[in-house]
Amino acid sequence: MTISFYLNGQPVEVDVLPHRRSTDVLHEEFGLRSLHRTCQNQGCGICLILLDEQPVLSCLLPAFELRDRDIWTAEGLALLKEFGDIVEGFGSVGVRPCPICGPARTLATEALLRRTLRPTRQQAKDTAASIRCDCCSEARVISAVLKTARIREARLHAQ
Ligand code: FES
Repeated sequence: MTISFYLNGQPVEVDVLPHRRSTDVLHEEFGLRSLHRTCQNQGCGICLILLDEQPVLSCLLPAFELRDRDIWTAEGLALLKEFGDIVEGFGSVGVRPCPICGPARTLATEALLRRTLRPTRQQAKDTAASIRCDCCSEARVISAVLKTARIREARLHAQ
């Protein structure tokens, strides 16, 4: 079946078979290399995408469910000014996620900040814990998420 949807702000169309997963279609048909499937559906979170602003594990999402949705991956987010807040927030507390989990951490942080500019520590903890990777400590990622929120809020208030 042919489906159309918005991908990183652009309208796209693709043929998908019923059994194909979103991760594979986005990776293989659209060349989005930030997406990885590193676990066998055990919740590593590395395959995260934003679907209508919600963080979703793309390895669990049949590709046909992308139809008519608004999809963002790290490649698209990297082109937005919001990405600068995340780079600054993480960098300022010395957190540099690895290339495998970094894209998903960026999207998870962005999803949280679209819900609230003043996340609680628990919300930041949940966001940090939603991506499983040993490259950086959870405590430091929590600090990075909270710092990013302060940077985002300050930037928006300065506009
Ligand atoms: S690849 Fe691990 S949860 Fe999707």
